[in-house]
Amino acid sequence: MKILVTGGAGFIGSNFVHYLLRTYPHYKIVNLDYLTYAGNLENLQDIEEHPHYRFVRGSIYDKKTVDALLSGEKELFHTDLAPIDIIINFAAESHVDRSIADPERFIKTNITGTQVLLEGARKHQIKQFIQVSSDVVYGSLKTAEGAFTEETPLDPNSPYSASKAAADMLVRAYHQTYGLHTNITRCSNNYGPYQFPEKLIPLVITNALSYLPVLIYGDGFHVRDWLHVEDHCLAIDLVMHKGVPGEIYNIGANNEWTNIELVKTLLQLVDRDESLLEYVKDRLKHDRRYAIDSSKIQKELGFIPVHSFEKGISNTVSWYRSNEEWWQRAKSGEFRNYYQRQYGQILPNQFH
Ligand code: NAD
Ligand code: TYD
Repeated sequence: MKILVTGGAGFIGSNFVHYLLRTYPHYKIVNLDYLTYAGNLENLQDIEEHPHYRFVRGSIYDKKTVDALLSGEKELFHTDLAPIDIIINFAAESHVDRSIADPERFIKTNITGTQVLLEGARKHQIKQFIQVSSDVVYGSLKTAEGAFTEETPLDPNSPYSASKAAADMLVRAYHQTYGLHTNITRCSNNYGPYQFPEKLIPLVITNALSYLPVLIYGDGFHVRDWLHVEDHCLAIDLVMHKGVPGEIYNIGANNEWTNIELVKTLLQLVDRDESLLEYVKDRLKHDRRYAIDSSKIQKELGFIPVHSFEKGISNTVSWYRSNEEWWQRAKSGEFRNYYQRQYGQILPNQFH
């Protein structure tokens, strides 16, 4: 089995690449990543030389690269990467706040990029296309009860959410129109190692470790439903092996927290007091509550999350404590220099 993972140098993608090589050592993985501010090859340092892993630098919205890769143009990649059996699309601009400040690149990567990959999948008759989507496409729950099901209408509020919803519609269309075997997964907020310190959990941990202010948007009573990244990987594994063509699967672990409650827990784990808390102006059109009903993937594919939040979050805090150089580099925009530090060369467009 040969799998094209896109965005494999990011948070969830790099955890997934590790997960796959550990769980299915005979599978072959090609990782196509553009290495934006959020992509870091250092996350994959331990498997760089793995005989079943190859990295290609390129953008999912670059038709030429995608087509050449799926056609197996040997001269470009020094080996034939084709035929690919499955595409799993993690690559995205992924942060709501950045999408509010500058929506354009979200359209390019999240919508055009997905369409370019879908077209490649159609042209090269790829057996399965998995779109890693998000619960943000459902918008905001208005009450403290209930959860998003796969039937909840899409109602995105931020440019990020809208770009993910638009991509989901394209994936649906490629299944309906061309009969491509597609699946869409919609997961709740993830946490765990290698998450870029712009998202709430790693930002709070790293700011608190540095005695910097921890910002709470609005009143702090917004609710998010948190899932360990390894459980997300497990769910995608099930979709990869058992997903029914055209189906959508919600992924979550019934683990809702208000932001303020979560941040206070993190401060305790980092051994800091609440004087670091600073309430700031709310995010524009801030979604009030996300909660995922994942009974479909549980019943139909046998998904059972294995990580307890208590242990998972405490291990995550330990990971950030032990990997200060990693997050200091992330915060100073140094991720992209990894290749240069490692090999003494500027990052080429395509390599390995
Ligand atoms: P991330 O920002 O950590 O990583 C994104 C990766 O995509 C980076 O390696 C980046 O270099 C790469 N990338 C960006 N633009 C690219 C392009 N044009 N071509 C190729 N690669 C490109 O994101 P993440 O948190 O790992 O999220 C991965 C996926 O999971 C996204 O699609 C996101 O929408 C989805 N998701 C995330 C969460 C979460 O809590 N983080 C929850 C549900 C769904
Ligand atoms: P985030 O990690 O950006 O994920 P998302 O917006 O996709 O849920 O934010 C999680 C929640 O935390 C969200 O309600 C916004 C809030 N938040 C803060 O209060 N302060 C912060 O510094 C950040 C980054 C987020």
